[in-house]
Amino acid sequence: MAEKNVLFSGMQPSGKPTLGNYLGAFKNWGTLQEEYNCIYCIADLHAITVRQEPSMLRKYTKELFALYLAAGLDNTKNIIYIQSNVSAHSELAWILNCYTYMGELSRMTQFKDKSQKQGKNIPTGLFNYPVLQAADILLYQTAVVPVGEDQRQHLELSRDIAIRFNNIYGDIFKIPEIYIPKAGAKIMGLQNPTKKMSKSDTDNENNVIYLLDDLKVIANKIKRSVTDSDNQIIYSDEKPGIKNLLNIYCAITNKEIKQAEKDFSGFGYGAFKEAVAEVVIEEIRPIQENFKRILADKEFIEKAIKDGAQKAECIANKTLKKVKKKVGFI
Ligand code: TRP
Repeated sequence: MAEKNVLFSGMQPSGKPTLGNYLGAFKNWGTLQEEYNCIYCIADLHAITVRQEPSMLRKYTKELFALYLAAGLDNTKNIIYIQSNVSAHSELAWILNCYTYMGELSRMTQFKDKSQKQGKNIPTGLFNYPVLQAADILLYQTAVVPVGEDQRQHLELSRDIAIRFNNIYGDIFKIPEIYIPKAGAKIMGLQNPTKKMSKSDTDNENNVIYLLDDLKVIANKIKRSVTDSDNQIIYSDEKPGIKNLLNIYCAITNKEIKQAEKDFSGFGYGAFKEAVAEVVIEEIRPIQENFKRILADKEFIEKAIKDGAQKAECIANKTLKKVKKKVGFI
């Protein structure tokens, strides 16, 4: 049987996971597990590029691991692991730092945004972050990386670094393809529907649906979401609130937007929001139940974390070994 291609993606455990994280990423990951060898990384090394409270980092890391499983990812078919458990990431990141240019990293728009929030002392880790991301991807000879649009620039840089390295040392890295799922999966804030729903946006709790929110709280947040006042359920850039709710509804039900518009024609916003809340809640309810069960089974989760790390390490170390040899390490 031909070896399947590797698909790699990662998420930072830097806050409570949101409905946006779920719909934009790991809801659909389960469907890829037959076609690819899927590897999912919980990127805690990335998370410390901004200051984290250690006890919270530990909690979020473990919770994200359990959530992946709770949402239906099978850790016997996919590799799910915690980045810092595999030291090859840090090692390859250092080496690749020596093949990446200041100019390239200075152009990263995410660095420009994030560094502005850091005041005078900007950690160099925040600057080098895309190099670590390149290491993540290249260690596994990844063919495809599914990410949101905000990660495109980082992925392009990963490819440039890989091509540069290969040009010097021969075919060491597979050049990864970027896969950006359709725009419908980009979920915006409920209070500010022109900005992405983000787990690091902790200023306004009502703006964000957390996957582990109480179900009643979720219904209320949707009910209170900001919309316009013309009471028509139409998908339009001029109606960002309604557009976002339609996106959420369709991402969960797999309906076409046009169909949803038809189904809701004549509905008022109140009834529409209720319908959206209902599908969101019914989607999240079983995930929360699984999550609680998985997290309560300490032995299971510890073993799953260890197994994931071992499997990942085995692949990562092969690439790292080749790289070390090529650059001249003894
Ligand atoms: N930087 C990504 C984010 O913040 C997370 C991530 C880390 C990632 N390593 C990765 C995504 C490798 C894809 C591939 O969303």
